[in-house]
Formats: sequence, structure tokens, C-alpha cells
Amino acid sequence: MPPAFGGIDFGTSNSTVGIMAAGRPQLVALEGVDTTLPSAVFFNFEDNHTYFGRRAIADYTDNAEGRLLRALKSVLGSSLIHEKTRIKSRSVAFSDIIGEFIGFLKTRLDNAVQDAVEDVVLGRPVFFVDDDATADAAAQGELEKAARRQGFKHIEFQYEPIAAALDYEQSVQSEELALIVDIGGGTSDFSIVRVSPEGRKAADRKADILANAGVHVGGTDFDRLLSLASVMRELGYLTPTRDRKRNLPAGYYVDLSTWQRINLLYSPKAMGDLRQIRYEAAEPRLVERMIDIVTHRQGHALAGCVEQAKIDLTDNAATAISLSLTDEMLDVAVTRAVFDASVSNAVDRIRDTVSATLAGAGLPAARIDTIFLTGGSTAVPLLRSTILAMFPAARIVAGDMFGSVGLGLALDASRKFGRVPAGA
Ligand SMILES: Nc1ncnc2c1ncn2[C@@H]1O[C@H](COP(=O)(O)OP(=O)(O)OP(=O)(O)O)[C@@H](O)[C@H]1O
Ligand SMILES: [Mg+2]
Repeated sequence: MPPAFGGIDFGTSNSTVGIMAAGRPQLVALEGVDTTLPSAVFFNFEDNHTYFGRRAIADYTDNAEGRLLRALKSVLGSSLIHEKTRIKSRSVAFSDIIGEFIGFLKTRLDNAVQDAVEDVVLGRPVFFVDDDATADAAAQGELEKAARRQGFKHIEFQYEPIAAALDYEQSVQSEELALIVDIGGGTSDFSIVRVSPEGRKAADRKADILANAGVHVGGTDFDRLLSLASVMRELGYLTPTRDRKRNLPAGYYVDLSTWQRINLLYSPKAMGDLRQIRYEAAEPRLVERMIDIVTHRQGHALAGCVEQAKIDLTDNAATAISLSLTDEMLDVAVTRAVFDASVSNAVDRIRDTVSATLAGAGLPAARIDTIFLTGGSTAVPLLRSTILAMFPAARIVAGDMFGSVGLGLALDASRKFGRVPAGA
């Protein structure tokens, strides 16, 4: 039997693993029957066990003593990757925590193919880091090292939107020019690809890839922006000091609104600073709420409520963010209009990146036949309508929102490791 291979889509919010089975790409069950795994790690201090995915989030939400980490992929392109973090009495490098998560995905992959897989294609955003090629290469290098330490020996990378294009191509009936739109938790990625039934069989697709572009803006940014525009105001963000000379410092509010930075607040130094901020505040009762949330380690729970409110606003004009504090119920109404206003600059940056993709291919928008949408954030109404308005004549195809990239990576792996799917 030839050595087995697979594809891993390590996402900011969700991860998937793809394999080829019976000549077709398929996703591996990662947690029970679920083929997606939330990219979350929980170190449980009570049983000293490490949990992943939904189980990690559930344990944490059930108030088990421990440490939750989310949006770890965003750490790859940041200075945090060179730092260690305290896990109970140990000091653990972020790169090793990413390794543990990849290792968990590998056990599922190995299990599915009943082999110790050494050949893998890892998805990557077009840019881990915007406008800094050296830092971007370093981020990919860190991911590669983490995968190698878990036992992968032959590691290739593919742009996530190209993987999604390969998945889409499985269903096309004739040649067309497709703009692949992959907007996830961390990044917005775009490719313009010539897809065709013949292309499915070709080993080298370079000539069919007309442009790639991306920007480090995604759903976790929308979470942060919505949080700052709504619930953080109720915790003192943008309120003045007693002397009315300035507003309270913004940094800790940004940390509390940013998935991968929440834990930075859980230190004695941060608590001392928050007490000082409360002392200086014109409205100390607002900062008291912030201190209450930090004291009870409710930061991820709050961020979860904000994310859920954002998702609710996809189908509703209004919703609420509710969190139970020690002495009161925090209940903040949010509307689609507030959300749209909070993300409008971010949406503009994403729209400009779509324009840059077209410019990179040297094509007018009218030449695009199909828009293929994948990634959870393509559901955001303002974002979807902004992008679709640029292509009034194009056909819109909604892909598997969470699975297209993983499926495409399996197809890419079969090409890269020399075992083209049966029938191709
Ligand atoms: N119905 C919805 N409306 C708005 N946003 C949504 C919806 N469903 C999911 N999302 C958002 O989609 C994001 C997750 O999408 P996805 O799983 O595609 O990202 P990812 O692949 O993990 O991230 P990336 O590819 O950027 O690394 C989250 O920010 C989530 O809040
Ligand atoms: Mg993704």
C-alpha cells in the first residue's frame, strides 16, 4: 500500500482534515461525527488533561479550573509566537501549544487512514502577516516546525483559496473564470482561477492561477470591533477620567475584545492597573464590571457572547449581549446598524483586496464568471453584499462554508504526493 497522505486546514476558528477515499476527497471526523473542530485548546488544571475543540470550550464554560486558548493561528504571525505562557506551574511556548493542536489533528488523520501519515499539505492564508514578507515566511516556518515535531516528514503548503478552488472545480461542467472568496476567522483570501473539467486532471495548475491576494482581516476582527462598539462601552471604554482630561486607556479593552489576548488580563499586574483605572474613572461602576469579569475569568465567555451576537445579526436586525455578573445582569442591546458601522472600515479593506486581486490578474470585474464563497464570515451581510455588488453579472456559488478548504487540500495532496485520484 502506498504511504498515506492528507490535507490539514488549520483555521483561526475551525480546523478540518481532508483525505482521499475511493478516489474522492472527504473530511475526517474530528470530534464524534463532526468534521470541523473549533481551534481551541483547554488545559484542565483539575485532571491535568489537555482538551481540544468543542470539548475544550465546554469544559471551560462549565467553569473547570484551567486555561483556554483560542485563535492560535493569529499567534503565528505575531510577537506572541516567541513567548511562553504559564500553564499551571509550567511555562509553555505558544509554538508548542500549536504543535499539540496539530498533533491532535494528526491522531485523527492517522486513525482515519490507519497509518502513521508523514505526507501532508497544510493550508495557509495568502498572507499570515500583511506587507512583511520576512515575518510572513517566519510564520509559515513556525507552522512547518510545529507539524514536523508531530511526525509529519513531507510538508507542503497551499493557499487556502486555491484549495477551495480545487474543491469547487470538482463540480464544474465547462471552463470558467472563478473568483474564490474565503473569509474566515482570521483572514480574507482571494484567488482568481481558471477552472475546468480538464483542469481536474492536470498535474501543474500554475498557468490557471491568475491572481492571489489576501488581508489579515476576518471574523475575529469583527468580534473585536463589535465588542468595542457595544459591550466595552458599558465597561468604561471611551469614558473619561474624573478630571475629564482624557479617556480611560484603551489597551485593556482591546485585550478583552481580542480572543488571543484575553489571557493577558489574568495577571496580578493587569489587575493592579485595572484598580488604578477604576480609581481614576469618572464612572468607576463601569470599570467595576470589567474587574468583575476579569476576576471571574469571564473574558472568553463574554467574547463568545459577542461572537454569537454577531452571528445572530446575520439573520436579525437586532439582538442582545447578556452576561451574568456578580451583582447584576449585563444586558447590552445591539443592532445590525451598529455592527455594520463598527466593521465598515474593515469591510472597505476587504473590498480593496478584492480590487487588488482583479488588478493582479489584469481583469475587469465583468470577466469573472463565478464567485465561489467559502469561510464562515462570507455570511456577514454587509461583507457579502459589498463583494457581490462588485460583480453584478457573476453567478454566485455558496460552497461548503467550513469544509471546502480541507477537501481541496486533500485533492492537492494527491497531486503533490504523486497519487492522482482514480479516474483522473
Ligand atoms: N452565520 C454567521 N454569520 C456571521 N459570521 C459567522 C457565521 N458563522 C460563522 N461565522 C464566523 O466565521 C468565522 C469562522 O469561519 P471559518 O471557520 O471559515 O474560519 P477559519 O477557517 O477558522 O479562519 P481562517 O481561514 O481565517 O484561518 C468566525 O469568525 C465566525 O464567527
Ligand atoms: Mg479558513
